[in-house]
Amino acid sequence: MTAVHGAVLRVGVLGHGAIGANVAGALRRGAVPGAVLGGVLTRGGDAAVPASVPDMRGLLASADVVVEAAGGPALREHGPAVLAAGRDLLAVSVGALADEDLFRELTRLTAAGSGRLLVCPGALGGLDALRAAALAGPLTRVRLTSSKAPASLVQPWMDEPAADRLRALRPGDSPVTVFDGDAREAAVRFPRNANVAATVALAAGDWASVRVRLLADPDTPLTRHVVEFAGPVGEYRFELGNLPDPANPATSGLVAHAVLRSLADLVPGAAWRVA
Ligand SMILES: NC(=O)c1ccc[n+]([C@@H]2O[C@H](COP(=O)([O-])OP(=O)(O)OC[C@H]3O[C@@H](n4cnc5c(N)ncnc54)[C@H](O)[C@@H]3O)[C@@H](O)[C@H]2O)c1
Repeated sequence: MTAVHGAVLRVGVLGHGAIGANVAGALRRGAVPGAVLGGVLTRGGDAAVPASVPDMRGLLASADVVVEAAGGPALREHGPAVLAAGRDLLAVSVGALADEDLFRELTRLTAAGSGRLLVCPGALGGLDALRAAALAGPLTRVRLTSSKAPASLVQPWMDEPAADRLRALRPGDSPVTVFDGDAREAAVRFPRNANVAATVALAAGDWASVRVRLLADPDTPLTRHVVEFAGPVGEYRFELGNLPDPANPATSGLVAHAVLRSLADLVPGAAWRVA
């Protein structure tokens, strides 16, 4: 559980790349009332980074909640220690949770009364409605269709002709389907695109029933996600078009702000919020 010292929520940030630096900077500027930057842990313990701490021990001492913004391997390496220390863990590299062993270990720690594992919606939205509909009864359909720049979908396991076909797509060409399968397989085969599929699966409460299509679309600078679901209380469809983060074209600019929104919801004592 988030332990709040005094009146503020102290935030530790793991990773100081596009998302981490943006979140840390915004916290320093007071962008989230009631939350302050506790510490930042970079890979090399870079002392030039404001609020830098040398190691995970230092980060845990500085924070009530730790934001993981450092990638799947870092979530695997540090997530258990964060939870075992009784700190909440706000995970951004959600695709790593497709690893059943990691998910089991993290949730076992939370069940033991340690910190909570919190999944940041990241590049997505509408998860409140998805979770509500899933609570109403079994969903009959959950679909995610993501359209991205072709080059971002090239994977090391693709053979050269397949990779070249993606790289050769030019504006005006029709989008190409590069994957059609379930959410866990999407997370494994397209790890850099796994976060959104994993987030939908976790919100729906079921990996196997989430059908994911990935399209290489040479025609737009936006990364588009269409989420569709149906169940006993209705049919839903929402679409997001994200521009890239200027500091990292593989990350949507929305993500750092989604982290700040998640943190705002953890600050106790707010007079009102959209919950
Ligand atoms: N949920 C979503 O919608 C979503 C969207 C985009 C990115 N992401 C995830 O967020 C992660 C971060 O994205 P980004 O754009 O900031 O990436 P980035 O590459 O700009 O920054 C990652 C930073 O983490 C640091 N790092 C790596 N391992 C570390 C460790 N063990 N300890 C400390 N620092 C470490 C790297 O040195 C780098 O500075 C991505 O890896 C991705 O998995 C999630």
